[in-house]
Amino acid sequence: EARQAASALSTPEAVEEFRLVWLGRKQGKLKQLSDSLLKSAAPEARREIGQRFNALKSVVESLLEDAAGAGPSDSALAAEAIDITLPSTRGLLGAEHPITRTMNEIVQVFAALGYSVGVGPEVETDFYNFESMNFPPGHPARDTQDTLVIANQERRPLRDRLLLRTHTSPVQMRTMEQQPPPLRIVIPGKVHRNEADDATHSSTFHQVEGLCVDTNITFSDLKGTLDHAMKALFGSSVKTRFFPSFFPFTEPSADVQISCIFCGGKGCRRCKQSGWIELLGCGMVDPAVFAFAAEKQPGYDPKKISGFAFGMGVERIAMMKYGVSDIGQFFSGDMRFLEQFA
Ligand code: PHE
Repeated sequence: EARQAASALSTPEAVEEFRLVWLGRKQGKLKQLSDSLLKSAAPEARREIGQRFNALKSVVESLLEDAAGAGPSDSALAAEAIDITLPSTRGLLGAEHPITRTMNEIVQVFAALGYSVGVGPEVETDFYNFESMNFPPGHPARDTQDTLVIANQERRPLRDRLLLRTHTSPVQMRTMEQQPPPLRIVIPGKVHRNEADDATHSSTFHQVEGLCVDTNITFSDLKGTLDHAMKALFGSSVKTRFFPSFFPFTEPSADVQISCIFCGGKGCRRCKQSGWIELLGCGMVDPAVFAFAAEKQPGYDPKKISGFAFGMGVERIAMMKYGVSDIGQFFSGDMRFLEQFA
């Protein structure tokens, strides 16, 4: 009976059950057998019965040992098997956001020219965003900036009132106040304007600012630097051209256009048949800006040094590089859009 029961044991639970049924110390079959034998056996038969009982017990014990050592049956194992050769479902890895990636690429181009990287606060004072950048209080040039202001600032002097910075240019002044010239710095960051969102405008967007100050920096340094940077970003066949423009903090100021990267300058839908795409603003640092910096760092005496500055919109560049037609995609958080950059 024990042999028959042992031959059917296929799981560790069944083996334990077998042990309890046959060898259990209180209720086991062998315990019951020995109790009844010892009660009823005649004294002269006890020796013989004891030997046969021990033989039976060791048979049951070895059956148990064999069953425990054998482990689960082949069929039980096969049912539980995991096929490690099957292809796995791939976990999603995070990816750099296209705006971050583009911003880093622009920064890298200038880092290779020896520029360092600076940052400043997104909530800025009127002084840094406007006054020190040569937008005097009430100056009409302020109207071009569509400013979002922080509420309940009216009690403060104008220069201390808080707003969301409309450009990264205030970090020019913050940096100059901290570091004497010479200076070569790029400033990536988020900016805000009170604008209606559409396919090409977003009230939150990003800029990379640049500032170079030294003795004898000229407009040709500006042209050479930006021409190189545009070739590094868009390919060596790209051409640049400069048009007169106006910013309060640069004089002279210019807008920079690059030859259309979609048609090579021949004229297409993307460049409105002109062959050119406008990409950034720049100019020679206005002496009035240096005068503000010189209040904290006398080295910025506009009679002794000169410099150029530039600012570019990151979304515009990313849209061109990646063929994105709706700026809102960058801020949508839509995984189907973002996964394409993984
Ligand atoms: N701050 C300007 C803007 O946002 C861009 C700019 C930066 C122009 C530096 C000239 C020099 O419109």
